[in-house]
Amino acid sequence: MKLAIPKERREHERRVAATPDTVKKLIALGFDVAVEKDAGLMSNIPDSQYSDAGAKITADAAATFKDADVIFKVQRPMHAAEGKVDEISLIKPGAILAAILSPFTDGATVDAYASGNITAFAMEFMPRITRAQSMDVLSSQSNLAGYIAVIDAASEFSRAFPMMMTAAGTVAPAKVMVMGTGVAGLQAIATAKRLGAVVSATDVRAAAKEQVESLAAKFVMVESDEGGETEGGYAKEMSDDYKAKQAALIAETLAKQDIAITTALIPGRKAPVLITRDMVRSMKPGSVIIDLAVESGGNCELSQPGKIVLENGVKIIGHYNVPSRVATDASALYSRNLLNFITPLMDSDSGSLNIDWEDEIITGTLLTRDGAIVHERLTGGN
Ligand code: NAI
Repeated sequence: MKLAIPKERREHERRVAATPDTVKKLIALGFDVAVEKDAGLMSNIPDSQYSDAGAKITADAAATFKDADVIFKVQRPMHAAEGKVDEISLIKPGAILAAILSPFTDGATVDAYASGNITAFAMEFMPRITRAQSMDVLSSQSNLAGYIAVIDAASEFSRAFPMMMTAAGTVAPAKVMVMGTGVAGLQAIATAKRLGAVVSATDVRAAAKEQVESLAAKFVMVESDEGGETEGGYAKEMSDDYKAKQAALIAETLAKQDIAITTALIPGRKAPVLITRDMVRSMKPGSVIIDLAVESGGNCELSQPGKIVLENGVKIIGHYNVPSRVATDASALYSRNLLNFITPLMDSDSGSLNIDWEDEIITGTLLTRDGAIVHERLTGGN
């Protein structure tokens, strides 16, 4: 069985869906692995490392996709209307595609998988069950995003993070506030603490309090009986009354901060606006806001994707594709997630795939099969 690793062609993408380490393990599972020329270059993995691991290096997209039974990608493949290589048309009918497919952003690609008879798995839909933790791409990538957000903030901040007592005087520690304390937020708290900042954090989920406090950060939260958590453990959209109380709390806290890192997301909805223009204006000049939700609409009213906005001396940073800023580690963890996904599907005796189509991991991630869109979130079943 041929497993293909194409080069990523989308803008701002530096990651790759396999490393030499995972290539070796995929070959041990029984795959012939083809890696497109220069696929790992932006993650600092030269072709020679893939060929040393046993992969065949293919010259272009056509040679990489040709006859592949399984395709691992980071982002969804390109289609004809996007003007570059029409990758979807190169995928053979019946092949398996596993990637971050963003079906709600780009419905046309989902139709193309169905009409091309592609078995497409959206890795970002991985159910959050214990068995699937090692396949959870949102966690592995958000964790790195939370880390690099703090590093980005520190590099844009014109002051130091830690307190320093020197002969020339004392440098005060930076005050950092993290909004949204899921995977990215918790890593941002831990990173800011390691750099010596004084850290506070907020979330709508009461369960977050204990996690924040275990990192020795201060938890600030609206006092309310309204539960902020769905049964699945995600945040929900809050009432207008809650939002007003939260805005007052953030306004009061934010004015005293040097850095704000926002990570708040509500699955399937636009990100909540937590920092308004007036709140930005209440911050000291030189303060920095890193908006990790910028590509989902933004947690700060003023943030813009791919830009650094300056408002009253406050820098509001909205980088595209934040995990890609730590591409080498992001690729390594993402590649591991894919390896962990495919390993239980491979029958080592027969050297072929043996998929239990009823398994929660499969039904949770499978978008299209046998020429049809099958995922309940796309067919209206949920
Ligand atoms: P996310 O990326 O969907 O959202 C980030 C954070 O923003 C969340 O903590 C959310 O509560 C918060 N948020 C949303 N709206 C907000 C608002 N208006 N104000 C303040 N904060 C707001 O979250 P992520 O990182 O995917 O984590 C979601 C949950 O899943 C967490 O409870 C996490 O611990 C859990 N989880 C479970 C895993 C597993 O069991 N395998 C793996 C990873 C996460």
